[in-house]
Amino acid sequence: MFQLSSEGKEKVLSELKRYESKQSAVLPALYIGQKENNGHINAEVIKELSRVMDIPESQINEVFTFYTMYNKQKIGKHHVQVCRTLSCMLNGAEELTAHLCKELNVKLNEVTADGRFTVSEVECLGSCGTAPMMQIGDQYYENLTPESAMNLLRGMK
Ligand code: FES
Repeated sequence: MFQLSSEGKEKVLSELKRYESKQSAVLPALYIGQKENNGHINAEVIKELSRVMDIPESQINEVFTFYTMYNKQKIGKHHVQVCRTLSCMLNGAEELTAHLCKELNVKLNEVTADGRFTVSEVECLGSCGTAPMMQIGDQYYENLTPESAMNLLRGMK
C-alpha cells in the first residue's frame, strides 16, 4: 500500500496551507505523490492524497485524469518527453520520436527492457523557437536531430 514519506506528507500539508481552497493544492500534491511513487500515479496514490488532504478521491481523480503531466503507468528511469506541437512537428519531431523508439526498441509510453527509458509525446513545452526539443526530468534539450537526441540518451546512466 502506498504511503507518502513524512517529508512528502509535510510538503502536501504545506501546499494546503497556501490556498484558501483545498482543491487548489491538488496539482502540487499530485506532483509530490507522483515523485514518491516512482514517477507515476495509481489508485493507491489517489487514496493516500485523499486521506492526507481530507478531500474526496473523485476530486483528485478529476484533476489527475485531465492533465497529461501526470503519468498513468510506470515509466522508465528517464522520461523522455518529446514535444509534438506545431513548431516541433514542423521541424522534425515526428522523425525524432520514431528514431528514439526504434533505437530503444519500444513503442510510445512503454518502458525499455532495461528499465531506463520511456518515450512520450507531449504538447508544447514553451520552447518553440528552439524546436524540435524534448524534456527529460527537469532539463530541456533543444535544436535536436534524431542522432543528437539519441547520443544524449546514450550518455545517460
Ligand atoms: S511547439 Fe515544441 S516547444 Fe512549442
